[in-house]
Amino acid sequence: MGEWFTRFFDGLYARVLADTAGDPRASDEARMVKKLLRLRKGQSVLDVPCGKGRLTLPLARMGLTVTGVDFTAAYLRRARRAARQEGLDIRLVESDMRNIAFDAEFDAAFNWFGSFGYFSDADNLAFCQRILRALRPGGRFLIEGINKSWLLTHFREHDESLHGPIRIAVTNRWDAATNRVHSTWVFTDGRSLERHTIVMRIFNGGELRSLLSEAGFRDVRLYPRPPVGPFTRHSRRLIAVARRPAT
Ligand SMILES: C[S@@+](CC[C@H](N)C(=O)[O-])C[C@H]1O[C@@H](n2cnc3c(N)ncnc32)[C@H](O)[C@@H]1O
Repeated sequence: MGEWFTRFFDGLYARVLADTAGDPRASDEARMVKKLLRLRKGQSVLDVPCGKGRLTLPLARMGLTVTGVDFTAAYLRRARRAARQEGLDIRLVESDMRNIAFDAEFDAAFNWFGSFGYFSDADNLAFCQRILRALRPGGRFLIEGINKSWLLTHFREHDESLHGPIRIAVTNRWDAATNRVHSTWVFTDGRSLERHTIVMRIFNGGELRSLLSEAGFRDVRLYPRPPVGPFTRHSRRLIAVARRPAT
C-alpha cells in the first residue's frame, strides 16, 4: 500500500489544487504569511511543501528570497514555468519534506494549508526539528491548518464537492485514540474513478504549541485565520508562529 501521500497528490487531486493564477486568495494569504512572520524585503523564506507555488510566487513578487520544497515534480514544473513567465527568481527543490537538510539558511519558514500531520508522531516532530535547524537563530516558523476543537464540533461524516468536472465524495472517521482523521476520498470525472484513504493528525492549539516546544521552538503564538482577534477553540483554522531561540 505505501504511504497515502505518495499517491494522492499525483492523482486527480492535481487538477483540483490551485496554483497562484487559479486562486484569487493566494495574494491575501501570502500577505498574511509575510506579516505574521514579520518578513522584510530581501529576507529569505522557506515554503514547505509549496505545491504549485500558490504562495511562493506572490511572496517572491513582494521582494522576498523564496525557496519552495515539494516532492510532486509536476507541481514544481508548474511553479517553475509560472515564475519564468513573470521573470521571478525562486529556488524550487524536489524533495520529501522529511529529508530537508538546510542549515541556518532562512529567516523564516512556513507550512500552509493542511500540509502538516501526514506522518507518524515521531516523524511530525522530526520534521519540525529539521525546520528549526533550517532557520537562522531567531528565525520564525508558521504552521496553518484546521483546528481540532472546531473540527470535532462540526464533524461531517460525509461531504461532497464539485471542482469543474471533478466530483469529490469524502467519508470521514475520527480516531480519538490517535487524534487522526481517516478520510476516504472518491474522485470521479466522468471517465475515471479514483479512491484514496488519507490519515492526518489534527491538532488543537495546545497540542501544536507542545509539539513546537518539544522540537525546540520558543514563543509559540496562536492565531485564527484570518488573524483578527484572539485564537479560541471556536476558531475554524489555527495558525501557530514559533521562534528558534537566538542562541
Ligand atoms: C494541500 S497541498 C498544499 C500546497 C501549498 N502549501 C499550498 O498552500 O498551495 C500539500 C502539498 O504537500 C505535498 N507533499 C505531501 N507529502 C509530501 C512529502 N512527504 N514531502 C514533500 N511534499 C509533500 C504535495 O505534493 C502537495 O503539494
